[in-house]
Amino acid sequence: PPAALLAALEGALPRRDLEGRRVVVTAGGTREPIDPVRYIGNYSSGKMGHALALAARQRGAQVSLVTTVAAPDHPGLEVQLVETAEEMLAALRPLLADADLLVMAAAVADFRPARREPAKIRREERERLVVELERNVDVLAELVRGQEHLFRLGFAAEDLDLDARARAKLERKGLDAIFANDISQPGIGLGADDNAGVLLFRDGSRAEFERMPKRMLAERLLDAVVPRLPPRRR
Ligand code: CTP
Repeated sequence: PPAALLAALEGALPRRDLEGRRVVVTAGGTREPIDPVRYIGNYSSGKMGHALALAARQRGAQVSLVTTVAAPDHPGLEVQLVETAEEMLAALRPLLADADLLVMAAAVADFRPARREPAKIRREERERLVVELERNVDVLAELVRGQEHLFRLGFAAEDLDLDARARAKLERKGLDAIFANDISQPGIGLGADDNAGVLLFRDGSRAEFERMPKRMLAERLLDAVVPRLPPRRR
């Protein structure tokens, strides 16, 4: 067959560059309970993380998806549903010893109610309700230690100084790369179908991504990250 036809076929077929790799993806916004019926949450839809999990699976990876949002049913995706940051951390710990890539797309609530009321808070009982919040566990920071085999990709939702803030976060959390998206622009980012932003690597290199559907962006992010994964261990 002519070379042009082969090239076209290759472009149409999914890349299998994650064959034999283990990928762990988090998705969705955590829900931090106030009482049995209420929680503190955020606008994350889980779409970016789910797109990344599916893309990694198609490329041949064994994928564990830890998500707060019901995930697409897909053969080969091992899905764990969680609610809080603590639950997400507990689900991730046993998965990471074996993993090659952690994609931390979840929007973890930065603050959680300092106390969970055991019974439903009743309207008649109060005129005003004050919920005290405390700083939540930093899931990524907790998972940094002793994981040299693991490439850690974080996400950052920023409204100002995108590059500088994302770079500082990458350093602070000891990440290998971070994808920063601009949440001040309408139609992209948290909850939206499209996304755009900049991917920063620890070595200082960066790549910009124009607005596109999250599934397409997931492919482009993996195109950039997969060649930088640590050598295969198996
Ligand atoms: N993250 C996390 N645990 C938290 C908060 C964030 O693991 N409690 C992760 C997110 O999943 C993301 C990265 O850290 O991959 C950056 O999240 P972001 O909320 O932007 O960073 P923060 O450290 O919360 O910084 P700030 O809210 O001050 O911008």
